[in-house]
Amino acid sequence: MGNKFWRILIVSVCIVCFVTLGVAFAQKKAGERDVKYESKTAGAVLFSHETHMKVPNTKCNACHTKVFKMKKEVKIAKEEHNGDKFCAAAACHDGKKTFGMKAEADCAKCHKK
Ligand code: HEC
Ligand code: HEC
Repeated sequence: MGNKFWRILIVSVCIVCFVTLGVAFAQKKAGERDVKYESKTAGAVLFSHETHMKVPNTKCNACHTKVFKMKKEVKIAKEEHNGDKFCAAAACHDGKKTFGMKAEADCAKCHKK
């Protein structure tokens, strides 16, 4: 096998490594960003990764990817504030561990005018 083969192989491996690292880094960065939901009917919700990661023993996999994908895509309906989906999943916003999603008094903790 010629020198050229090895050179191409090494360069390819390097490219794959850099791309993988780049994606991981970009994902970590995005995991520090806020996610904003612009709801006109109920008031915008700002999800803060920073605030949530400060909750003791919280790791990325508390939410990803069982409850949320690692991209902004969910559309949560009012009816889904009742069960154990999304924010209320894994006994988080259930009114016990932290404020829930059903009490009128708590709506404005997430929905800002
Ligand atoms: C308390 C739950 C929770 C935790 C913990 C959490 N995330 Fe997220 N993350 C979310 C939610 C909610 C979204 C938005 C999902 C949606 O809209 O579908 C999101 C979105 C993302 C996105 C996409 C952002 C965008 O703008 O598209 C990335 C990347 C991400 N998270 C990475 C991370 C990483 C890395 C960690 C750990 C450092 C982490 N997340 C921890 C809830 C969480
Ligand atoms: C723990 C945070 C949280 C609490 C508390 C909460 N919500 Fe929400 N709500 C959300 C999120 C996140 C969405 C999704 C917005 C989206 O998908 O664009 C949402 C969506 C909605 C929607 C649908 C909006 C639309 O544009 O389709 C309505 C209506 C709504 N909430 C009403 C309420 C009411 C009323 C309360 C209080 C009883 C409440 N919410 C409490 C986080 C919360």
